[in-house]
Amino acid sequence: MGSRLSRLTGGNKPPDDKQIKMLDELRDPSPEPVLAEPEARMVPEPPKAVDAPPKSKYTYLAEGGEEYVPPPKRRTTPKIAKLRAQLRPKLVAAADEFDGLSSSDPEHRKMVKTRLQTLLQRSNIQLTQDEYNELEEAMIKDLLGFGAIDPLVLDKSVSEIMVNGPEIIFAERKGRLQETEIVFDDDDHIQWTAHRIVRPMQRDFSRRNPMVDARLPDGSRVHLIMPPSALCGTTITIRKFPEKRLTWQDLVSFGSLTEEVAMFLKACVRIRLNIVVSGGTGSGKTTLLNVISSFIPEDERVVTIEDSAELQLSQRHVVRLETCPPMQGTKEGQLVIRDLVKGSLRMRPDRVVVGEIRDGAALDMLQAMNTGHDGSLTTVHSNSPRDAVARLETLAMMAGMDLPVEIVRTQIASAVDLFIQVARLKDGSRKIIQITEVQGMEGQQITLQDIFLYKTPGHTGVQPSHEGGGQLEPTGLRPNFYTRFEEQKIELPRGLFGGMGSFNRRQ
Ligand SMILES: Nc1ncnc2c1ncn2[C@@H]1O[C@H](COP(=O)(O)OP(=O)(O)OP(=O)(O)O)[C@@H](O)[C@H]1O
Ligand SMILES: [Mg+2]
Repeated sequence: MGSRLSRLTGGNKPPDDKQIKMLDELRDPSPEPVLAEPEARMVPEPPKAVDAPPKSKYTYLAEGGEEYVPPPKRRTTPKIAKLRAQLRPKLVAAADEFDGLSSSDPEHRKMVKTRLQTLLQRSNIQLTQDEYNELEEAMIKDLLGFGAIDPLVLDKSVSEIMVNGPEIIFAERKGRLQETEIVFDDDDHIQWTAHRIVRPMQRDFSRRNPMVDARLPDGSRVHLIMPPSALCGTTITIRKFPEKRLTWQDLVSFGSLTEEVAMFLKACVRIRLNIVVSGGTGSGKTTLLNVISSFIPEDERVVTIEDSAELQLSQRHVVRLETCPPMQGTKEGQLVIRDLVKGSLRMRPDRVVVGEIRDGAALDMLQAMNTGHDGSLTTVHSNSPRDAVARLETLAMMAGMDLPVEIVRTQIASAVDLFIQVARLKDGSRKIIQITEVQGMEGQQITLQDIFLYKTPGHTGVQPSHEGGGQLEPTGLRPNFYTRFEEQKIELPRGLFGGMGSFNRRQ
């Protein structure tokens, strides 16, 4: 348009009347409404370079916290990284040849060493002693172990490993999650390890199946996801299977609960309360479920149901069930938690223990709890007992039975007796922060009453504290099911529930 205009107006000269008329004719007589450019096509202006971000007048905002300094990284020498990638596939006769072998077995290490030396001689690759040592160690980790993270996998003090692409690897030790000095050479290097993890399980990890949830032979849980969904590169998350599940004594020694509360929980299991452990990801739900399951008497028949078997019950009369995926390439053979909960009821269990309720299985679990399987235990992912009620409601509605919410709520109120809330606190410790009784319904609402709350010095209010350095304290209110302890002649420590005032009030 610009060039047509200048041709008509003859460059910079002002247009005469005739030209103005022609210009008017050229203009669209009924201009179409101008549509906004589709957003995707709008090119945002590049951000203007600024020397420093403007300071806020609010000191809290302006402070910006301490600057995070990542640990120095221990990288493979570039020459060795290149050789490692080139020689890795050449050292194995078949992709699965070393599956099941371990980097901590001297015989297996020797085999890799011998093959590496032969290959280097044949290829006439010259290396200094240091370079050779580095390459040999790298090969052993890649072919027999978990690549760069092999030392973390072997380190017993590490409970979780998180690989966020090649550069950033975190590990958790004693509740503290910290970035490590370890890196993978590149994304291909992570993928090599990822395939070593999934291959023995006959699982496919490829663009066709870019996300895998699996369990290692030792029981550790692994989650893998690759680009393009994983934007920072192939991501591996490993939750190591504890050699020994923590016991109530361990939890007491960590300050996660007091000995008196452990006694209270044992009594609750003995009087067959239906208990739901609630908490966020990695907050210690399964560990606590395991601990309270250990209070189930030896002579009861228990069925445990889990997505990936983590519970370690010491009782003899336990039937352990685990979900299973469909057979490869088909939709057959799959058993989900719901199927197992329904099925378990025909196995004449005294108690059903479900690892975690994540879907419509909630409804089956509530029904099991309401129909003579008292003393059943489970966990749910939520941030407070009140949230756990809402979550159970939502999950039970997912069962697709078209039940009105009031009915579901009534089912929850009559099924669940106790919520135990666990949390990972700001100092990294994992604690029970709330023990709450379900008292029943008041109108449309489920009534909950806290019996124990985690408090830190100076903490006021009715919500538990999330700071460390406190303890679980009685609220002063005795639970309604107290009489059942007396009926069964279970003696609890005097003053367990605290405040005598409320004690008297409720008598
Ligand atoms: N009270 C505790 N004190 C110290 N460590 C604990 C405690 N409870 C659990 N852990 C450790 O914390 C990690 C996570 O525990 P656990 O598997 O029980 O959590 P979870 O809430 O079930 O996790 P997820 O949400 O992934 O199922 C484990 O390594 C476990 O050993
Ligand atoms: Mg768990």
